[in-house]
Amino acid sequence: MKLIVAMIRPEKLNDVLRALYKIDVRGFTTSKVEGHGAEAEVVQTYRGTTVKMTLNEKVRLEIGVSESFVEPTVEAIMSAARTGEVGDGKIFVLPLDKVYRIRTGEEDAAAVTPVPLSI
Ligand SMILES: Nc1ncnc2c1ncn2[C@@H]1O[C@H](COP(=O)(O)OP(=O)(O)OP(=O)(O)O)[C@@H](O)[C@H]1O
Ligand SMILES: [Mg+2]
Repeated sequence: MKLIVAMIRPEKLNDVLRALYKIDVRGFTTSKVEGHGAEAEVVQTYRGTTVKMTLNEKVRLEIGVSESFVEPTVEAIMSAARTGEVGDGKIFVLPLDKVYRIRTGEEDAAAVTPVPLSI
């Protein structure tokens, strides 16, 4: 299992969520964050204080997936979040040791698999 953490443009969130829905990825967390990429900036010193670099608003997406979902999930984010301009974001893929679904006690792959609606 992997935890996929992606920083994306806020205006791309809906496109990314739509792409994830299409490949049956249902469980995720989003948060508003501020960050900085690889861009070099002129660091200015004003009265002895170094002016900090500017931060950009991004959305952080966290998605726990089983192995077979890793590649499709990364590809879905890559294509839905890309504009081709600097600042499109980053995707990190982290090892994920354990997942528990609290309601059922299910673990790991069973706990990240979408549950069919019981209607
Ligand atoms: N090395 C990093 N570690 C943690 N977060 C990062 C890192 N690089 C970028 N981020 C996060 O991703 C956001 C978007 O980064 P950004 O797209 O500017 O990356 P970049 O490497 O500068 O690529 P680009 O050249 O396309 O701008 C940042 O605002 C920050 O939140
Ligand atoms: Mg950048």
